[in-house]
Amino acid sequence: MSDRVMWFNGACVPWEDARVHVWDELALRGANVFEGMTAFWDDAQQRHRLLAGGAHVDRLFRSAATAEIPLPMPRAQVFEALAEVAAQLGGADIYLRPTFYAKRGRSTLAPDSEGAMYIGGFPFRPSRPAAVRAIVSSHARFGGPIGADVKSGGSYLDFRVFERERVEHGVEHVFFLNDRGHVAEADGAAILLVHDGVVVTPSVDSGVLDSITKRIVLDIARGLGHRVEERPVRREELYEAQVVLAGTLLGLRTVDAVDGRDTGRTGGAGTAAELADEYGRLCRGEGPLAPTYLDPLP
Ligand SMILES: Cc1ncc(COP(=O)(O)O)c(C=O)c1O
Repeated sequence: MSDRVMWFNGACVPWEDARVHVWDELALRGANVFEGMTAFWDDAQQRHRLLAGGAHVDRLFRSAATAEIPLPMPRAQVFEALAEVAAQLGGADIYLRPTFYAKRGRSTLAPDSEGAMYIGGFPFRPSRPAAVRAIVSSHARFGGPIGADVKSGGSYLDFRVFERERVEHGVEHVFFLNDRGHVAEADGAAILLVHDGVVVTPSVDSGVLDSITKRIVLDIARGLGHRVEERPVRREELYEAQVVLAGTLLGLRTVDAVDGRDTGRTGGAGTAAELADEYGRLCRGEGPLAPTYLDPLP
């Protein structure tokens, strides 16, 4: 099995051959939008099943529309290309990263505007660090016309600053507040505050990417009979509940400490473990929500 696969310009190509020009809008102004997706290997059927593939591809198209990236192809062809990459990575769970980018044109209104796509694919082997510590960043999550609910390379440039902060503090994650001082999200994940039988998460107007993993977990929580609250979250709440991160790459990750204070003082560890178990089962095709969220690739 290959270690990494690249789809570029209509076909899978050797990794080194996926080249763009430095004067393409992609390089010049960081004009790209992308998704991180996972597909789980079904040994019995000998094929991959994509987790929430429709939601991810919908968000890719929405991000492109907001960020003025010309659409390179229709939706069905994106799925065909994803399937081509997955076929090269058969036999294992995989991570797929489709990117739409602008070759030319400063907006989609430019007469020479042209979009293109590439997809990187890798085996997916999630890991959990021995301890998961987080700090609240000294910077607020960005606003601007594109906003937090778009996965664009340009806006992720901010993450280079957050990453420096993370390394300097010697922690595993950085959390962001929004411009109102409420909790927004983490570097690469949504934040869930889990109490016994209650799951709280910042509402979508908190300056967050509306995480698809979070949506799945909230559905799981409701199915298990827990109460779900989407609302503005105060920073102090991070120091009480069992904090859990939710994201495509991380899956569900329990946070041990925020700003040096242990999390989970008000309980919630049991509910958090239950959610993580059920999410793991869903990825393996088990549980009542698996048919809703897992789809075979074409
Ligand atoms: C900033 C940010 N928030 C949240 C998430 C989680 O989103 P999803 O569950 O859709 O992968 C990500 C994942 O890439 C992210 O980068």
